Amino acid sequence: MSVSFELWGRALKLFAGGVNSPVRAAVKPYPFYTERGEGAYIYTVDGRRFVDYVLGYGPLILGHSPERVRQRIIEQVEKGWLFGTPCSAEVELAAKIVSHLPSAEKVRFVNSGSEATQTAIRLARGYTSRTKILKFDGNYHGSHDYVLFDAGSAASEFGVPYSAGVPREVGATVSVCEYGDLQALESKLKTEDYAAVIVEPVMGNMGVIPPPEGFLKGVVELCEKYGSLAIFDEVITGFRLGLGGAQGYFGVKPHITTLGKIVGGGLPVGAVVGRGDIIDLLTPNGRVFGAGTFSANPLTMAAGLATIEELEDGRPYRLAERAASAVAEEIERTVGVKHVVNRVGSMFQVFFGVDRVSRASEARRADRGQYLRFQQELMKRGVFVPPSQFETLFTSAAHNEEVVEETTSAIRQAAGSL
Ligand SMILES: Cc1ncc(COP(=O)(O)O)c(C=O)c1O
Repeated sequence: MSVSFELWGRALKLFAGGVNSPVRAAVKPYPFYTERGEGAYIYTVDGRRFVDYVLGYGPLILGHSPERVRQRIIEQVEKGWLFGTPCSAEVELAAKIVSHLPSAEKVRFVNSGSEATQTAIRLARGYTSRTKILKFDGNYHGSHDYVLFDAGSAASEFGVPYSAGVPREVGATVSVCEYGDLQALESKLKTEDYAAVIVEPVMGNMGVIPPPEGFLKGVVELCEKYGSLAIFDEVITGFRLGLGGAQGYFGVKPHITTLGKIVGGGLPVGAVVGRGDIIDLLTPNGRVFGAGTFSANPLTMAAGLATIEELEDGRPYRLAERAASAVAEEIERTVGVKHVVNRVGSMFQVFFGVDRVSRASEARRADRGQYLRFQQELMKRGVFVPPSQFETLFTSAAHNEEVVEETTSAIRQAAGSL
């Protein structure tokens, strides 16, 4: 009996579904437990090694335990890790964000991407004195009440696009549109007042779906025309598609941006950033409430700062993208059954049984059984990709040529057995 199996047996008695975040239960027949991570690899308690394309679901763009980040965390641990006062690293990290992210003038740190989108939505409502918000089918913005409508990620994987427990009254304040459909968006904005339109600038929670040409610019323009705020949820794309995030990559500036994942260097984080006059509405300056015991905690700030310093020379992006492109091309080339691979920078996903995925409904039509078989065949060969069709494969600066070679060889064998 493996150590993971034994732990899983205990976990099933202790946690709902055995886990503390649902996608982790999607690894079949049961999740492996990870002991440590180094570079592109994770090592399990059972003595196995996997090349990791999950990377903590996105944050670890430098790979596991990169030296500079590790050292900075250790230095901070030696000084203490929670003071309930401001710390210098929060000023340095915010200054980096403001200098790199095109639309960022001011920052509010929180503790998760969910908290960031919740705060951003409240801020937009406070700013506009309007109530309704609009989101897109398949976009995932975290686990709070206001965004669990036609949500992607685990909400789609486990068939809970509308969560029990979310008041009907909350649903009445949220509209959902097809991703990429500016006409549908305009007809909604025309007929009712919306505080905000929130969008993933690249969909990363339905697999990967790039925005159609002109869509993001159209969202911002329509928001301006109808008095709403455009919120780009860059929890995944922020500092992944480059230092300027998706807004730098596509050249479009939203009014508010939410960040998470990479910005905390692998420790829990979220941030709401945007125009100074909007962020200034938060307490203690303004009347939109926001607070957090752990917000801008020194450990997260140190890890985030070290990560961005490392990203600033551009090399990690080149390495991560080269790996993503090589692995995505190998899948395209060797998988014999009908499929399509979507890739933007260092994020990508394969969909079986379809030849195009440009919206959530098309991702839902993909052959998820075949994806799971592919995922399991890869796991047998030492490569860990997300156990859900609706997640993204990520690469890191640690995915060097040797790692890519190991992966492509596993892909050829896995493809052969599909
Ligand atoms: C685009 C997006 N927004 C928000 C979130 C929520 O972030 P967190 O899991 O840190 O609450 C996620 C999580 O994956 C995400 O992908």
